Amino acid sequence: MLLLQGKDSSFKMTGIVGLSTNMFGSPTASILLVLSGAASAAFGPTIQRCPADFQLVRRGQTISAPESQYIKERREKVLPDAFKAYSQNLKRTGTELPKYVQEILESPQLPTVGISTSGGGDRAAIFGAGVLNALDGRNSSSVKKGTGGLLQAATHLAGLSGGSWLLTSLVQANFPTIQHLVFGDGQKQDFDGWLTSFSVWTVSTDPAEQAIFAQEILQEIAVKAKHFPVSVGDAWGRALARHFTNGTTVNNFFSNTSHGAGILFSDFVNLPTLASREQPFPIMVLNIVSNHINGTIFPGMNGIPLNSPMFEINIFEMGCYDDVLAAHTPTKHLGTTNESLCVTGFDEAMFLSGTSSNLWNELNRTAESLAAATANFSLLVNETYPQSPALRLDTSNYPNPFHGIAPDTFSDSGETILSMCDGGEDGQVTPLQPMLVPDRKIDVIVAIDAVDDGGGFAHGASLIATQQRMQIFPGGLAAFPAVPTTLEGFANLTTQPTFFGCTPSHIKSASGPMLVYIANGAPPRDGSPPLTNTSTGQFIYTESELQGMLAQTFVVATQGADVNGALEDPEWAAC
Ligand SMILES: *[C@@H]1O[C@H](CO)[C@@H](O)[C@H](O)[C@H]1NC(C)=O
Ligand SMILES: *[C@@H]1O[C@H](CO)[C@@H](O)[C@H](O)[C@H]1NC(C)=O
Ligand SMILES: *[C@@H]1O[C@H](CO)[C@@H](O)[C@H](O)[C@H]1NC(C)=O
Ligand SMILES: *[C@@H]1O[C@H](CO)[C@@H](O)[C@H](O)[C@H]1NC(C)=O
Ligand SMILES: *[C@@H]1O[C@H](CO)[C@@H](O)[C@H](O)[C@H]1NC(C)=O
Ligand SMILES: *[C@@H]1O[C@H](CO)[C@@H](O)[C@H](O)[C@H]1NC(C)=O
Ligand SMILES: *[C@@H]1O[C@H](CO)[C@@H](O)[C@H](O)[C@H]1NC(C)=O
Ligand SMILES: *[C@@H]1O[C@H](CO)[C@@H](O)[C@H](O)[C@H]1NC(C)=O
Ligand SMILES: *[C@@H]1O[C@H](CO)[C@@H](O)[C@H](O)[C@H]1NC(C)=O
Ligand SMILES: *[C@@H]1O[C@H](CO)[C@@H](O)[C@H](O)[C@H]1NC(C)=O
Repeated sequence: MLLLQGKDSSFKMTGIVGLSTNMFGSPTASILLVLSGAASAAFGPTIQRCPADFQLVRRGQTISAPESQYIKERREKVLPDAFKAYSQNLKRTGTELPKYVQEILESPQLPTVGISTSGGGDRAAIFGAGVLNALDGRNSSSVKKGTGGLLQAATHLAGLSGGSWLLTSLVQANFPTIQHLVFGDGQKQDFDGWLTSFSVWTVSTDPAEQAIFAQEILQEIAVKAKHFPVSVGDAWGRALARHFTNGTTVNNFFSNTSHGAGILFSDFVNLPTLASREQPFPIMVLNIVSNHINGTIFPGMNGIPLNSPMFEINIFEMGCYDDVLAAHTPTKHLGTTNESLCVTGFDEAMFLSGTSSNLWNELNRTAESLAAATANFSLLVNETYPQSPALRLDTSNYPNPFHGIAPDTFSDSGETILSMCDGGEDGQVTPLQPMLVPDRKIDVIVAIDAVDDGGGFAHGASLIATQQRMQIFPGGLAAFPAVPTTLEGFANLTTQPTFFGCTPSHIKSASGPMLVYIANGAPPRDGSPPLTNTSTGQFIYTESELQGMLAQTFVVATQGADVNGALEDPEWAAC
């Protein structure tokens, strides 16, 4: 039994909340909750008159003016030195670089490198972090291997689902090194690492502590709930914020503080390392849950057909580059649906990243299965803030800024709400689409794949999905290099980094990027037990587990067979 009375800014809750075993196997706790209090949270979206020059929708498949400016400034101010440092690191490994490579690295036409880091829960966030560390010019071990410096030389960084947690936390913490990002700075300040000693939904076996956690999560969305639909996606975003944005430490985990509420994705542009263009341009990927699309569902997926439009959110815009919609809206004003009244504060960073990782719709087979998978938060949100029965509670919901746009081709043009979900639910769990936007002119994509295609390892399915989708949406998206069409074809290509798109025909067509594929594909070559193939549902990791995973990932990304360099592939860095 649960009795909650939602009332603008204050509410009382009394009753029994049963928090059963959720999909991630956390323990059952049945609790008696008798709490009351006023949610005085000052954060949440606000609605004001729009600025004079406000444009709700920008049409087209070209990138936005501020993005172009960002990339231009990064190319001018940051990349020349970054590439110089990177090529010096390469030379220091003693490998002879072919002349044309030297020329490319020293030419004024520096290559445009995008890094895409996949979904797969914390496993993917950790594997992605390990690869970024191996590419980071600030880590002396990475520099020694010759891979360090490529992160600094990349122009774009895309994350999806677990990869979007890595992306968002890295960006918002102002681009610390991976050790600082994952473990905190030890001074228990703003950002205290990923706090993997706590799970995400079920954070305590103590029912009273879990109840306080639940109440705080619900209070934190009170202001938003006054004017906007709320769903499990909002609770999920608040739960994730405790791990991936500033404001939560081991010591204040259960304290009633803001836990990073009010940290907005569009505000990141003001962080020192974004203002100075030192960070690659950050992008997240989402899918839409539509009642109006029927199409081929990629094998192993259970929801979103491959012919659905793909969405992305970057620090400037949310939108879709596919020809069926080709429209974008300002991230800063998400929530807005007309040009007279503008919303700000809707773009909570972890609400957006929580959208990229919202797969609760896949677990909505029955009301009970959904409640179980979300530790009852889907029910709690709806009972605290009663919603229209027509509203989906399993997705992350956005007032539709594209209402009436492309009515003949955009499936959800007529909807008032866009129901959004995990960007990998169509099978493309490695976020390659943003790198295939022709106007981004990406030359090389570094694809980091930590999807679980079986046994916790990646076997190439997400690249196959992207290849299939490119055949459905050829218009306007860059050519994708040929990859095997079956998992069997990928057999040996996931066990070591693999290059796609080096064939003369692909290079001659010159329309698409080359792909450097780094997969979490197999146990270590030196025979030690694999640590990086943990289950997607595992959210609790000890510090030594994390260090072990990062160390094995470092070996994968630097192609040393063990930390001492035995069985090392000496040519990898130069490749
Ligand atoms: C959290 O603090 C606010 C005041 O800042 C208060 O209204 C609310 O009841 C508190 N919530 C809990 C769970 O203690
Ligand atoms: C988060 O904290 C770090 C310091 O740990 C700081 O540099 C950064 O600006 C903060 N980010 C935000 C969005 O407040
Ligand atoms: C999709 O398929 C279902 C069942 O076959 C059908 O009822 C529905 O009308 C179709 N929708 C569209 C948009 O084609
Ligand atoms: C514009 O949007 C605001 C906020 O969502 C809404 O209250 C208002 O009715 C809308 N105005 C028009 C003319 O549609
Ligand atoms: C959800 O909570 C209710 C109590 O409000 C409890 O009876 C029910 O078992 C819970 N359901 C699940 C699936 O956890
Ligand atoms: C959500 O709340 C509304 C209003 O109380 C109710 O009509 C609806 O059935 C609820 N949805 C679910 C799935 O419980
Ligand atoms: C579960 O999915 C169905 C569509 O299959 C949807 O109509 C319903 O709203 C979803 N339930 C919740 C609670 O979101
Ligand atoms: C990880 O791989 C090992 C060896 O291949 C296997 O025994 C283990 O079950 C895998 N772990 C998971 C969680 O799949
Ligand atoms: C994979 O590698 C093994 C051992 O090197 C080899 O026997 C096998 O033929 C390879 N498979 C494919 C599909 O290339
Ligand atoms: C550099 O990377 C290695 C391998 O993951 C790690 O052990 C080390 O702590 C890192 N060093 C710094 C300074 O971050």
